[in-house]
Amino acid sequence: MSLLNWSSAFCVGVTEIDDQHKKLVDMANRLNDAMQIGQGREALAKILNELVDYTVYHFGTEEKLMSVHQYPNQAAHKEEHKKLIAAVSDFKRKFDTGDAAITSEIMNFLRDWLTKHILQSDKLFAKDLNSKGVK
Ligand SMILES: [Fe+2]
Ligand SMILES: [Fe+2]
Repeated sequence: MSLLNWSSAFCVGVTEIDDQHKKLVDMANRLNDAMQIGQGREALAKILNELVDYTVYHFGTEEKLMSVHQYPNQAAHKEEHKKLIAAVSDFKRKFDTGDAAITSEIMNFLRDWLTKHILQSDKLFAKDLNSKGVK
């Protein structure tokens, strides 16, 4: 079973952001599938690294749009990104040294974070972009 099913409810209305969110959801599902079928550490590490790198890239895309279009709430939004990256980097360090494993709790945390952040913070931000003519 997928961790997250993409639906139109996740669309924020800015194509570049929606495309990146779809890819993030795909990658989180791939990591979850790999965990569930019991793939080895190395395979999991590869997907985890891709997911972390793509998340950093995605946040960068959003943050660039925020500064170009002078999004009024950018400080709080960037802070949410920063906190997730800190939590994920901490987890990755523990995973790499063998002190942590990918569990359903970890995957559920990621699913809940993504869902809440997209539905609340990213939607609010995209609405501001839409009002400035960015689609
Ligand atoms: Fe965001
Ligand atoms: Fe986002």
